Amino acid sequence: RTVAVILAGGIGVRVGLGIPKQLIKIAGKAIVEHTLDVVNASPVIDEIVIVMNAGSLSELDSLKDPERFPKLTRIIPGGVSRNDSTQAALAVLGDDPATKVILHDAVRPFVGERILEDCVEALDDYDAVDVAIPSADTIIEIDAASHITNIPDRSTLRRGQTPQAFRLGTIREAYRLAEQDKTFHATDDCGVVFTYLPHVPIYVVEGSAENMKITEPIDVHIADKLFQLQSESLSAIDELPDLRGKVVVVFGGSYGI
Ligand code: CTP
Repeated sequence: RTVAVILAGGIGVRVGLGIPKQLIKIAGKAIVEHTLDVVNASPVIDEIVIVMNAGSLSELDSLKDPERFPKLTRIIPGGVSRNDSTQAALAVLGDDPATKVILHDAVRPFVGERILEDCVEALDDYDAVDVAIPSADTIIEIDAASHITNIPDRSTLRRGQTPQAFRLGTIREAYRLAEQDKTFHATDDCGVVFTYLPHVPIYVVEGSAENMKITEPIDVHIADKLFQLQSESLSAIDELPDLRGKVVVVFGGSYGI
């Protein structure tokens, strides 16, 4: 069984619009709903849990529609940190340690079917899987005085995205160990496995540039443009009847037409 967890427990301070950024409407729908659409349509996902900002839980009531989102089984309140939200989800995923868990940011609505499939498939060989892309920018390390301390070789560097995928037993064990560590701090879930289960190899699936995280105000404009281009591509496809029956890849997402 494969369960996707959509993490929507944050507030979106950096976007700063006064509502949690996952509720911002772009192209007629809240960002979290776009993400849910992609995950719900994926044949490799059996079940979906949304972890929502506790103060805005009722904003998602309209998504509890078994006709539209048959895989969505729960919408639960998140925690103070992203890791707390992950743990809230892990607590409701049942007893089978072999369950495949796909943890995805609600604010990455352009994740495509290919990435979801690659993650689920990689879990046949690995207990932990990350998604990342190369960095076009040079990444430098600096100290507190803003002096460069290191310029790592760019070819070995990647920018981490989500989903991050795990066998339930592995991610639960990593968090169990993290909870015993008073100095625990991580911003993602692979970081928890990397730190507390160092013997577990974490395989990296190729992400995509479109799988951006809506983080800063400018990202809302970029996302708006990407949705616009996506729908233009889809209507262009409608005008090409000879493509019917084929699968067309638009911005990394696959659409059966
Ligand atoms: N997230 C979560 N629970 C939290 C914090 C974040 O589930 N307590 C989720 C966010 O809703 C988002 C994803 O984790 O989908 C990525 O986090 P980020 O972009 O940092 O979101 P926010 O914390 O909302 O943003 P900010 O740091 O600007 O407040």
